[in-house]
Amino acid sequence: MEAEDRPPTRWTDDLVKALPTEATVGVWGGLCHTVDVLRLMNDDDDDGQVNKMVLSFAATLAYGVGRQMISLAEGMPNEEVFPFNRLEMGWTKGGALHMEGKELSTALQYLPSQGLPALLSELRAFQQDLHRPPPLQRDVIVTNGAQHGIYQALDLLLDQGDPILLTEYTYTGVHVALKPYSPEIISIPEDEHGLVPETLDAVLSDRLSRGLRMPRLIYLVPTANNPTGTTLPAHRRRQIYDLACKYDFLILEDDPYMFLNFDDEPVPSFLSLDVAGRVIRLDSLSKVVSAGLRGGWLSAPRPLLQRVELHMQAELLHSCTLAQAALLAAPPPSPSRSARSSISTGNDSFTDHGFHDKHIKVEVLGPPHHLQPGGAGAHLHRARALYRRRRDALQAALAPLDSLADWSPPKGGLFLWLRVRGVDDVYNMVFETAFKRGLMLIPGQAFLYDTSAPSQHLRLTFSKIALKDMDLAARTLADIIKEEQSRSLQKQPQRLATQH
Ligand SMILES: Cc1ncc(COP(=O)(O)O)c(C=O)c1O
Repeated sequence: MEAEDRPPTRWTDDLVKALPTEATVGVWGGLCHTVDVLRLMNDDDDDGQVNKMVLSFAATLAYGVGRQMISLAEGMPNEEVFPFNRLEMGWTKGGALHMEGKELSTALQYLPSQGLPALLSELRAFQQDLHRPPPLQRDVIVTNGAQHGIYQALDLLLDQGDPILLTEYTYTGVHVALKPYSPEIISIPEDEHGLVPETLDAVLSDRLSRGLRMPRLIYLVPTANNPTGTTLPAHRRRQIYDLACKYDFLILEDDPYMFLNFDDEPVPSFLSLDVAGRVIRLDSLSKVVSAGLRGGWLSAPRPLLQRVELHMQAELLHSCTLAQAALLAAPPPSPSRSARSSISTGNDSFTDHGFHDKHIKVEVLGPPHHLQPGGAGAHLHRARALYRRRRDALQAALAPLDSLADWSPPKGGLFLWLRVRGVDDVYNMVFETAFKRGLMLIPGQAFLYDTSAPSQHLRLTFSKIALKDMDLAARTLADIIKEEQSRSLQKQPQRLATQH
């Protein structure tokens, strides 16, 4: 059965439309050649393969050991000393996860570093079904959220002082992870549709012509960027992917807001465009299932993933087993363990690019039983609808700011990005004036690598504020901006609050 003939499933039907609706295989195969991803890794990891540890191999083997084996091998504790015999987590929409006996013992025990094998199978199928990446040796590893994946990827790919490409304003967690490398930040501005590929091209071409060191990596939040709320349209993603091939860099695609894309237009992920093995993709369930369970996974070309696994082993052995077991059992959005069918994506063009399999077998989820009403798709719809309603409510509440600030309604996520008119730097306004009036805000410089730089922007979070407080918050903000604007007519005072 060809991918196109596949009957639509509840699973894909139910998911937000931001997900790719058809295989990108064959559409995007002509431009890039498979990259040797190890070549782009930092010098510290040259011997990563050599160091593959015997003990970890044994642990992985031990995990799959059948009952008939007698083992003097495993260094695991005896579960009989664990003081738990039952765990129950109720679902909001009815039903519950129960664990006891062998299942609970397993959920409280050590794991191979890559993750709970059953969850890994689900995640592999999930990635395949949603992104349908061009065939390449890839795999997934369970991480403690996307932040952990950021840290792992940077640790593998960056050397001290390396250049790295970022959007001008970006997620603070990446800045924090970058600091120890003292990197050269190549900051690319965004417009209302996100990073501008033409600017990226111009910046890189200029560096090349000046003989400057070229970056090995771009970090991007393609859907509902935090803080700017921009979502890269499909054509820009393709252009950026092209530039990655042209200038030989990898793409770290951090997409925790994928499920919260308010647009009805489907956008392919970078992973789904990745014919050459240039994409490291980070997924997270923090915004839609639980932030505290730290559920995330990293998808990457297999050689790179093996290095991540070694790092993970050194760092924390593995992500929490109990959390992984809970995520595996959770209705949203862990795919069901339902019957799967094998299909062939057969596409000759890929043989030109080093893919030896002409007919690549991929697994596709069949109709998942627990994704019927109340399941993952429905949950994601609810989550997206909740955030969208909140976005709309804040948007309506901001009417008093019409002549005081500029913003575009965010296309997804949790944040509205606002530029305050007539104020060169919002820092004092946030930490002095607003704070005294009982309004907490985040100034734009929080999302710059250099937090001492001035910024006219504010990030407003609409995910948790009580709906009834939105009008008051907006009116207070309007008053504060007016006050600050009149003060700005005089000389800008020194920063008063937290100086750094
Ligand atoms: C862009 C981005 N990446 C990563 C994270 C961290 O996510 P996680 O909880 O999965 O580590 C956040 C959280 O705000 C984020 O906005």
